[in-house]
Amino acid sequence: MRLRFGGRLAISFLFLLALFLLIQSYLIHSLKKPFLLSSFVGVLIVLPVAYLIFRFMTQPIRVITELANRIASGNGTKGLPLHREDELGRLAKAIDEMRLQLQRKIEEISEEKDYLQALLGGIMEGVLVIDAKGRIVMVNQALRQLLSLPPGIEMRTPIEVIRNAELEETLQRVVQSGKGATLELVLPSAQEKTFEVNVVGIPSSPAETGKEDETRRGAIALFHDITRLKELEKIRQDFVANVSHELRTPLTTIKGYAETLLEGALKEEVAYQFVQVIKKHSDRLEKIVQDLLMLSKIESRQFRLQMEPLSVLDLVNSALSFLREAIDKKMMTVSVEHIPPALQVCGDQKYLEQVLINLLDNAVKYGRDGGKIFVSANQKGQEEVEISVKDDGIGIPKEDLSRIFERFYRVDKGRSNELGGTGLGLSIVKHIVQAHGGRVWAESQPGQGSTFYVTLPLHFPS
Ligand SMILES: Nc1ncnc2c1ncn2[C@@H]1O[C@H](COP(=O)(O)OP(=O)(O)OP(=O)(O)O)[C@@H](O)[C@H]1O
Ligand SMILES: [Mg+2]
Repeated sequence: MRLRFGGRLAISFLFLLALFLLIQSYLIHSLKKPFLLSSFVGVLIVLPVAYLIFRFMTQPIRVITELANRIASGNGTKGLPLHREDELGRLAKAIDEMRLQLQRKIEEISEEKDYLQALLGGIMEGVLVIDAKGRIVMVNQALRQLLSLPPGIEMRTPIEVIRNAELEETLQRVVQSGKGATLELVLPSAQEKTFEVNVVGIPSSPAETGKEDETRRGAIALFHDITRLKELEKIRQDFVANVSHELRTPLTTIKGYAETLLEGALKEEVAYQFVQVIKKHSDRLEKIVQDLLMLSKIESRQFRLQMEPLSVLDLVNSALSFLREAIDKKMMTVSVEHIPPALQVCGDQKYLEQVLINLLDNAVKYGRDGGKIFVSANQKGQEEVEISVKDDGIGIPKEDLSRIFERFYRVDKGRSNELGGTGLGLSIVKHIVQAHGGRVWAESQPGQGSTFYVTLPLHFPS
């Protein structure tokens, strides 16, 4: 039969008492020693025995204390064997079971944490998590990269790191009210990137508050980079504004002159001039619409080029014949230089002729009266043909060179308008050339002339 801890304690006490009495009575009766001395010697002998018994009996308590200390210091991976069937043994077992449960929970939590980290790491949007006191708990890799955040920002506030008062204020508001919010931010720390930021509160679990949603544990902010969307929106707005502006002038003129005619001018001599003005502006309208249609066609997804081998010399001559009248009118000379008759490009005839027409049209329009135009073409490297169109006209200022390929961009708007230009010619050139996999650029000396270069894929004769 196993004894309980209390029973053992009582037996030990009785044993010690009996030992003491035995020693005392032996000393008094057998050795005739005085009572006090006998008692004193009895205590001296019993004390070490009592100490040894006490050590033996409290050994399991020391083992359990050691185990509890280990668990508390987070080092409780190993249990302590204590093979006893009494209360202390059962206590040790219960504590060991608790240790195992704790260990399992810690493993589960750290697995969940790893999973969450992997999940957040895989999200392309930036994620920022703050606690109820507004301190950063976590940021994912995407946000670190988007905002170039330094390491070790956890436990700091977003305002210290991201430096945006509106974001800070929204985060605090969401933590307090629990109502989600969306805001648009331009963050200087991210090279003027524009973000749409969605902030939602993290509700406390019912176990923490007693009532769901009563208080919040913090908030999560999701950062979507919408810079490209904004740019596209701006391009679209500018384009619509430009088109409307370009269409308005000829339309107003046509309307004004038509109304004047209707009001009676039809019978007067000026009627012929008025109709001429109307015709001129209608032509301009038609040209704008045609150019816009061509641009939208080249940009559409369905756009396909009819690729075939084309002689560069034939393309140049065909474009020149189209512009012959204008060239002669300005008494200009065109020299077609160094174009090997066998040189061929791979491209779409209709569109490549358009490229050359637009470049030559500019050379004529912005060239001097009686001036010279040089057209040349050569093979460049193993795969390309470079075509150049050079004039000795007004030239283009350096600051405008990079912009002349933009839609509706004109260096001298008045002059271009006078010449019937819409500012779409070079934009069409750029799109067609790029659709062929080529490049286009210009060099110019203001007052001396300009040279436009185009590269196209070379056709290898088989
Ligand atoms: N060879 C050139 N010499 C001087 N300036 C030029 C030359 N080519 C183009 N430019 C400048 O670049 C601008 C844009 O040219 P682009 O061909 O796109 O438009 P445009 O000639 O004005 O009109 P469009 O070609 O649509 O009739 C012109 O308005 C002009 O200011
Ligand atoms: Mg032009």
